[in-house]
Amino acid sequence: MLLIVNGVPRELTAPPGRSLLRVLREQLGLVAAKPGCGEGACGACTVLVGGEPVRSCVLPVEEVGERPVTTLEGLAPAGLLHPLQQAFLEEGAMQCGYCTAGMIMSAAALLATNPDPGEAEIAAALDGNVCRCCAYPRIVRAVRRAAELPAEGAVAAPSSPLEPPLTAPVRPWDLVAAAERDWFSVLPDGLVAAVEPAPAQGSWSTSAGAWLHVAADGAVTAFTGKVDVGQDNRTALSLLVAAELGVPVESVRLVMGDTDLCPYDEGTFGSRSMPDAGPLLRAAAAVARRSLEQRPLGEGERRVELESAALRATAPAPRTSGARRAVLEIVTGAARYPSDMTRPGLLHGASLQPPAAGARLHSLDLAAARALAGVTVVHEDAFVGVAAPEPETVEQALQAIRVDWELPAGPDERELPEYLRAHPVELEGWGGSFLDESGDVQAALAAAEVRLDASYTTAYLAHVPLETRAALAEWENERLTVWTGTQRPFGVRAQLAGELDVPEEHVRVIAPTAGGGFGGKHTGEAALEAARLARA
Ligand code: FES
Repeated sequence: MLLIVNGVPRELTAPPGRSLLRVLREQLGLVAAKPGCGEGACGACTVLVGGEPVRSCVLPVEEVGERPVTTLEGLAPAGLLHPLQQAFLEEGAMQCGYCTAGMIMSAAALLATNPDPGEAEIAAALDGNVCRCCAYPRIVRAVRRAAELPAEGAVAAPSSPLEPPLTAPVRPWDLVAAAERDWFSVLPDGLVAAVEPAPAQGSWSTSAGAWLHVAADGAVTAFTGKVDVGQDNRTALSLLVAAELGVPVESVRLVMGDTDLCPYDEGTFGSRSMPDAGPLLRAAAAVARRSLEQRPLGEGERRVELESAALRATAPAPRTSGARRAVLEIVTGAARYPSDMTRPGLLHGASLQPPAAGARLHSLDLAAARALAGVTVVHEDAFVGVAAPEPETVEQALQAIRVDWELPAGPDERELPEYLRAHPVELEGWGGSFLDESGDVQAALAAAEVRLDASYTTAYLAHVPLETRAALAEWENERLTVWTGTQRPFGVRAQLAGELDVPEEHVRVIAPTAGGGFGGKHTGEAALEAARLARA
């Protein structure tokens, strides 16, 4: 079939029923449109078809016909930003950015027919686009602002700021003695500074160190075990390093959450990035700066170049120039989330999920799934999963599994409020000091001038960020590498090593910026499932 995508005719074949989203992402490599709910309810996958915003996850590609398809990658002429991209950038109209492509495409359709929409019209047009981080007020402001900008993009898009990930080494930083670390060989000649927290009485830190490298050309690469799950601690931590070194923030690259390259970190939670990782990165930058300042003049150009590059700016870097540098990648569709990761020969996978929490496998027949061509079926302990080259084959294989579940006794959703009242749960919490005041409630109510009585219940909500839990796993020479959205890459490394019965130093977890976490991506279920499937 012929598809016109971003003005370019693309000849392709696709099985009947394959969604436009899958064709765009998996066959054409256009990953700005994101997979979210998969059923047309979240808007993360929104693209324009014939100028209309559509949920590409539920549109079979054969129904596109001759209508042109536009994705975020093709919204503006190459090298320019569309007014909406510029406005979202300037307003910082996102948090994790996973919904941004869909938001911008829905807004683009609105502005095409209504160049000066009011707030209510914007809200109505974006009604089906969910921002799980709740950046709605800024999004509405950005659309209003875009309406005021010139229609033709006048602002140059940045050249892609994405850099290839560092692939070496193949041993974890934190599991190797300091004297044996030779990580610096993967970086160009330059200066290295590493720090570990001083054991101070009564202090507690989630981060066990930080290190950075200053290259001869002034490029700075800093390493922290913290991760960015959309809160953009990346920019904040990069600014700290830049300010301490006295270099522009654009010259700082921050490598986060890679268990081979970064010092140990307990996890990104509890707002601990700035108080824990911040001082360590800053201390490493201070050590580097002092070394550069104190180093006596020597022979050769390298020393001179280092000094001139790193000490050129003596004043702190401007606070605005690098603010939300990741936003550039988000508004142009260049940002890569765990769901966007790929490797040569990638197989798709899925696991058999119980119909209810606590359900147990009663009987299982995998014969029909195993008989399907190209399908790998894995049954290890309670895990049942399938892998295949095509996602449709994966779904077919899952459907072919005959399974009976033993369901636990429990309330259904309508009975839940009453059930919870009848079965109160005592939570122990984390302990520590807190304020607990009790008064005479009945007396206060009796004395009140106005008394309001009401009961409120909410739906029982699943704890779901917009980007679903996803992982990519690869085994090479008995060593496992997993890319996954997690707040605890080192915890997931330990979990994988334990469950798969491999030494922890044979596991590497890389945590790219994720499409939301909200405290719900602490464990590595998806990582473990991908690893089991990849091993098979
Ligand atoms: Fe398509 Fe949610 S609407 S992924």
